[in-house]
Amino acid sequence: MIELSHIEKRFGDAVILKDISLRIPEGNVTALVGPSGGGKSTLLRCINLLEVPSAGTIRLGEDTLSFSPNQKPSWQAIQKIRRQTGMVFQNFQLFPHRTAIENVMEGLTTVLKWPASRARERAMELLTKVGMAHKADAWPATLSGGQQQRVAIARALAPSPRVLLCDEPTSALDPELASEVVDVLARLANEGTTMVMATHDLRLASKIANDVVFLEAGSIVETGAARTIFGAPAQERTKRFISTLNAGHSYDI
Ligand SMILES: Nc1ncnc2c1ncn2[C@@H]1O[C@H](COP(=O)(O)OP(=O)(O)OP(=O)(O)O)[C@@H](O)[C@H]1O
Ligand SMILES: [Mg+2]
Repeated sequence: MIELSHIEKRFGDAVILKDISLRIPEGNVTALVGPSGGGKSTLLRCINLLEVPSAGTIRLGEDTLSFSPNQKPSWQAIQKIRRQTGMVFQNFQLFPHRTAIENVMEGLTTVLKWPASRARERAMELLTKVGMAHKADAWPATLSGGQQQRVAIARALAPSPRVLLCDEPTSALDPELASEVVDVLARLANEGTTMVMATHDLRLASKIANDVVFLEAGSIVETGAARTIFGAPAQERTKRFISTLNAGHSYDI
């Protein structure tokens, strides 16, 4: 389980996240939605400690870390949390001078010190899972955006993280390529992968999220089951936002 308690994040005087408390059970998929600048990416970056919260507590499995403005957590404590997370970015961020399979192997050989043969075997399993085994030896630049993102998902999963964090995983892709990535993420969700994802993609969110958190100006406006938030949100503000996402589309939710 992931538990965030009273997380606050400041950049200088600006309070970017305000008193965020969330519980994400094992196997759950939570979508973070809300207007641009609301703090979705910052919240994801706080979960893997790419940003260190200014206050509050994070619990990930057996590890708990509390934050305060005048006390920096140790590098070891940060690594312990970070290693339980995998991150998928909007723009893939594959290493351009490594092939697809080398990208997936990288963390296993350098961070976890696995022998190359074992890392290659694990990487091939993951490439197969995301439908990219046939491109194992391809360079990232020769892959479509959807293919690059599927390799990036395999890379994020390689060390078996407790949670997969995805920041707008489909928003750099045209609809057809996005649907390849949605299908892969849906399969992972069905297999019980715990995920937290920031997305504007209602198709993605409605297809795979169990829970939705609506974040605006650094605060949680409303949170609940995906069906409720997309179908019958309680707050007027959430209703307005969801209707902008819905505009021009009809989704089966
Ligand atoms: N390193 C930083 N220094 C100062 N301010 C920052 C920093 N990173 C983010 N912010 C600010 O924090 C706020 C939240 O940004 P964030 O990127 O988390 O929003 P978001 O919900 O992910 O938006 P989008 O939907 O556009 O991706 C914004 O006002 C942004 O300018
Ligand atoms: Mg963002």
